[in-house]
Amino acid sequence: MGKFSELIREMTIQEKLAQMTQIMGDCFVSQGYGKLMGLSYGFDIPEELAWNIGSVLGMGGAEKLRRVQDLYLSHNRHKIPLMFMCDIIHGYRTIFPSPLAMACTWQPELVEKSARIAAKEASVSGVTVTFSPMADLSRDARWGRSIEGTGEDPFLNSLYAAAFVRGYQGGGVGNPYQIASCVKHFAAYGAAEGGRDYNTTSIGDYDLFENYLPAYQAAVKAGCRLVMSAFNALNGVPCTGNRWLFQDILRKEWGFDGTVITDCTALYELIPHGYSETVEDAAASALEAGMEIEMVSTAFFQKGEELVRSGRISERCLDEAVEHILELKDELGLFENPYKDLDEEKEKQLHLCAEHRAAARDMAAESAVLLKNSGNVLPLSRQQKIALIGPYADSQELLDIWKCEGREEECVSLFQGLKDKADCILCPACGLREGAADLAAARKAASQCDVTVLALGEPPEMSAEAGSRAYLTLPQEQLRLAEAVLETGKPTVVVLFHGRPLELGSLAQKADAILAAWYPGTEGGSALAELLMGERSPSGRLTMCFPHTVGQLPLYYNALPTGRPKQGEQDEERFRSRYLDAPNLPLYPFGHGLTYTSFSYSPVTLSAQVMHPADVLTASVRLRNTGDRAGVETVQLYLRDMGGSRSRPVRMLKDFQRVALAPGEEKTVQFRLGIEQLKYHTPANGFTWEAGAFQVFIGPDACTENGASFRLEPDPQ
Ligand code: NOJ
Repeated sequence: MGKFSELIREMTIQEKLAQMTQIMGDCFVSQGYGKLMGLSYGFDIPEELAWNIGSVLGMGGAEKLRRVQDLYLSHNRHKIPLMFMCDIIHGYRTIFPSPLAMACTWQPELVEKSARIAAKEASVSGVTVTFSPMADLSRDARWGRSIEGTGEDPFLNSLYAAAFVRGYQGGGVGNPYQIASCVKHFAAYGAAEGGRDYNTTSIGDYDLFENYLPAYQAAVKAGCRLVMSAFNALNGVPCTGNRWLFQDILRKEWGFDGTVITDCTALYELIPHGYSETVEDAAASALEAGMEIEMVSTAFFQKGEELVRSGRISERCLDEAVEHILELKDELGLFENPYKDLDEEKEKQLHLCAEHRAAARDMAAESAVLLKNSGNVLPLSRQQKIALIGPYADSQELLDIWKCEGREEECVSLFQGLKDKADCILCPACGLREGAADLAAARKAASQCDVTVLALGEPPEMSAEAGSRAYLTLPQEQLRLAEAVLETGKPTVVVLFHGRPLELGSLAQKADAILAAWYPGTEGGSALAELLMGERSPSGRLTMCFPHTVGQLPLYYNALPTGRPKQGEQDEERFRSRYLDAPNLPLYPFGHGLTYTSFSYSPVTLSAQVMHPADVLTASVRLRNTGDRAGVETVQLYLRDMGGSRSRPVRMLKDFQRVALAPGEEKTVQFRLGIEQLKYHTPANGFTWEAGAFQVFIGPDACTENGASFRLEPDPQ
């Protein structure tokens, strides 16, 4: 008997089903407040549903939400407040870099801070739930939604998923300026075959438990209040009808006690999936699997009553769902104050305030990754004359399509950031989407200057949901522009604006420097100008590798070995696991990123050659700043398990430290390895350790060969 059993008893079946339905917010405003438009994505919204609906999606703004809440409560006979949910993915009005970019900071504490700021801006606008974090592991850059996740590594993804949740929810969702977090898309949405969005996934148990599930679990452990089902089928069973995932894993194994929501129309999609034959079947399967809120479609409302009356679904099942929904509203404090933090005045003060802009700028600087810097062409100096060329030279399209309430006109372009710091000629020479590049103007600008900054990239709509690509090159016109500029022979710095790792082709060889800026958000241009001019040093590291060619995908560092491994990249032996026409390794590996100084690593030393389960092994290196500038190095520790009851990845990131060193400074960097880091999902004995040989690697990226070995032995009897 929960706190709401009385209220639930008083509700009709239709009222319960309406609580379990979510519609688009514009249903309430599209024909003026007070009139309902009646349709959401082509589904009928009768009045009896609208005035009992549990939550709406995609609507923000203090004034608007206050009016909708008032209107709704004046019609709802139980006075159950409406919940407003939104995709707040990397900021609400002040937009931070895309999640994949933020991940390249290797600083979960910064991500937590960004989520706290997003929650603050959202909450004063009346939004109480965000559909974030996206904890989907992504190994294939063709998948446009790679941009929304944090990359290819389960350990980092878990740290980030938990950081997002802590940032949004703080000490509790009822506290001022906190909102509830919904982790998505459960499960393994990022494994879409061929990188094609919404496509099916086939994943063995080992891969699922070791690589795909940990980040969702980390979000659940951090207390996220909602979980969203994924669009895809997992091993033949669509996630939205997958009882095993939601009941056995999420509820029973992980102890999740919050609310489960479907993805948008995913419930209806059980039919085209070939899983359910009718809307009725789809609703029944989703209810049995544990779906509690149906996003945007209305199968629950249409078919739920029939399902209960015919005995196919018990009313208890609806009651449990409604209880979770009401509990969430209660935790948010909506029964006492249906507006929570909604405040028109605070909205004006907080949105885009100086503090939030400064945090976005800091994040944009920390997330840029310096991929290449031949001859130390970067940083630039005030004495150099700079030709700033390319479609992103003065573009404010620095937000991806999950920009929420962010606006392009509020973004700082690269030119706006640079113009007061540098002697700079602006020559966009081509648009982001159409039209031939003005190659003559570009050549002329480049020839007149000492150095060219070429600002290139994908238009934002090429990434994110339904943004899958079979080719990952830059648009053809931009490649022609780059060729023309490079022909001038002037040193050239490429700044890339993009949602995912790209295939850079010959640009990777020909450009002198390449800075991956991603979609850097509201303050992108100011942060990038600081980096280019050396006022700050880049320190971002890739969390998703850059392939040489799209034909290598999926490509990820923590792959399983083969029986015929290639012996180094020069190995030409035919009968190896290799391509005849492309390398095995990526162009830029996981963990890669340069700065304006250099570092040297000593060989790895271990505190012992044999470790027992109760021991802590320490692994260390001496790290030295060998350049003439201060810098931050992200020192990474990888493990390899050399034998066991199944084969394990060639490298697994287990820890990392960001170390700041002055020029010439040297430091011992020490890691502690305990038995928990050596455990895995064994085929026969669950999550445990196995005795045997291990290798530890410590270095600047996942390709490091700087290693040492030890054995894990059982405790002496
Ligand atoms: C569909 C997307 O897959 C999901 O991530 C998002 O939260 C919902 N639409 C709501 O916009």
